[in-house]
This record gives sequence, structure tokens and C-alpha cells, in this order.
Amino acid sequence: MADRRPRVWVSQPLFDDTVAQLAAYCDVVATEQVSAHSAAELAAQLADVDGALVTLNDRIGAAEIANAPALKMIANVGVGYNNLDIGALSAAGILASNTPDVLTETTADLGFSLLMAAARRIVESDRWLRDGNWGQWSFTTMLGADLHGSTLGILGMGRIGQAIARRGHHGFGMKVLYHNRSQLPAEQEQAVGARYVGFDELLANVDHLVLVLPYTAQNHHIINAAALAQMKPSATLVNIARGGIVDELALADALAHGRLASAALDVYENEPNVRPELLALCNIVLTPHIGSASLATRRAMVQVAVDNLLAGLGIGPDAGKPANAINAELLGNGTARIAAAGKKIGDKKR
Ligand code: DGY
Repeated sequence: MADRRPRVWVSQPLFDDTVAQLAAYCDVVATEQVSAHSAAELAAQLADVDGALVTLNDRIGAAEIANAPALKMIANVGVGYNNLDIGALSAAGILASNTPDVLTETTADLGFSLLMAAARRIVESDRWLRDGNWGQWSFTTMLGADLHGSTLGILGMGRIGQAIARRGHHGFGMKVLYHNRSQLPAEQEQAVGARYVGFDELLANVDHLVLVLPYTAQNHHIINAAALAQMKPSATLVNIARGGIVDELALADALAHGRLASAALDVYENEPNVRPELLALCNIVLTPHIGSASLATRRAMVQVAVDNLLAGLGIGPDAGKPANAINAELLGNGTARIAAAGKKIGDKKR
């Protein structure tokens, strides 16, 4: 039987040329409007395709793939992939990929921007000025916290955590402490000027804490009321990881009652809904999950995801070996659907 062109679903509007690039090799069903697809919609879209390009808006697990016999590859546009149930995908032989590396520096830039904005009360100052409050220059207006010379804490020391540490240490002369599942090799620690400490020691000793760890069931609300109580009341908390890491009500309470000076969040537990308790506070900066949102980086992320998707469908230079497969063990043990098919599908033009 002649090979047919693979069918792919693009779950959210991306760049115009993304669809064109995929259409050179595949039949593409593209989504025109940003959509919060329901589980039933996801299942319906995945039922008939070989591959899908998805984002963190799309939560895909056993139920969504139960009736998707042709599905071989899901390429997530993003480094975090807690929207995907990797266990369920692996059990079904479906490969999944993410987009590490290309967004590291951009996301670290945003983390640092948020830290500066919160510690130096930049957004609060802007709003205060626009609201007509600036009657006279005063010595004590908007006093904030220094970054230079202070102690920066990083929870989660992967690529982005290290990029933030580098900015703090080399750019601002900060002392950097970190906590992570495992300690980095000494030369990596030295490169970013960071010292490993326990979780409690981190909380108690830092002036600013940036959260960059992946979201898992184990670290759900790892920053809760008890953790916040261990931090200095003068400290700043920044979350650029995933919303579920922080107990938002406990954070709002600490900020409202002077037990924490300031915070900045780019991610929320129930996006795009932000709790009114957070919205009501002036000592928190709130951005709409834009960590990797520079034009150049978003383009790079989409390109990586497209390359992964095509590779997972047996097309292109990495055919059969997506560079960023999360469950790459399927390729090694022969349980990936693409491997089980025993042949490469797709357009031979490439
Ligand atoms: C990521 O890559 O995980 C971001 O949060 C989404 O762009």
C-alpha cells in the first residue's frame, strides 16, 4: 500500500509559516482561534491524526488518546510539559517532545526582570504616579530592596535556574544559594557562583527567591504558608515555573500582612484566572505567563517543536529520532508506535 501523507493537528494558532512548513509534508488541521479545548474536543481532534503540535493549554492524558489509534507523536511547544500525562502516552507508545534550551535565556531574562520590578516596586510606582499621587519628591517614596550585594535563592537549578544564577552572580554581585533535587557538579556551581543548600536553609537565608522547578505532584504547593513563614519578611518571591508550586492564598495572606515584602508571578494555579486576593495587592507584579515570549524565542520554540513532530512522523533529517523526545526510552525498547510500524511514513521530498 502506498504511503499516505501523515495527518497532523495544530492545537493553537502559531505563526503562519508554521502551518505552511507542516503542510509541505502533512495534511494539517490548524486551529484559527486561541482555544481552551475541552477534553472531548481534544479527544475528537486526536482521534484521526498521526501527530499533534500542542501547547500548555492542552491537557492530554489517557482519556484524550483512548480513541487515537494512528497517533504517534505529540510535540509540545514549551519546555514544561505537565499538561501531558507522559505515563499514559508512553503506555500507548506515543512519543512526546518539548522545547528545551532555546528559551533558557529569554525566560531567565523575564525572571530577572520580575525580580527587579518587584524588589524595586517599579510597577507599583508607575501605577501610583499615573494615579496622580506624586505631589512632591520625597526621600521615603517607594523604598524597595536592593538586588546588588543581596542573597539570591533559586529553587530548581536546571538550565533556567543556572541562567538566573549567572545573571545574579556575574551581573549584580549577588551571593547565590540554590536547592535542587540533586547538587550540580562543582565546576557548574562555580560557573554560576552558586552554593547548594537544603530547602529550609534556602528559605531562611535568601533576600530574593526565584522558583524555577518543574511542577510535579511532589512539589504541589511546596511554597505554602509554612515555607513562607520561614522566609525573611523583607524578601521577594518570584514564580516563573508553574502556578501549582505556590499556595496562592497563603502567598496573598503573607503579602497582605507584611510577612513577605513583595512578589512577582508569571504563572498561576488556574490560568487564565488570577485570584482576586492577588489582584487586590499592590506589592505583587502579575504577568500573563510570558516567560518565553520574545518573538525570536517563540519562533525558535515553534521551529524545534515542528522539527520534533516531523521527526516523530518519520520525516526529515532526524526521522524516527525526535531530538527532544521526553519518553525517548520508547525508541530504545521498540514500543514507540513509529518503531512498531517498522517503516517510515511521509513525503520523500525532504
Ligand atoms: C514553557 O516553555 O514551559 C513555558 O511555560 C510556556 O511557554
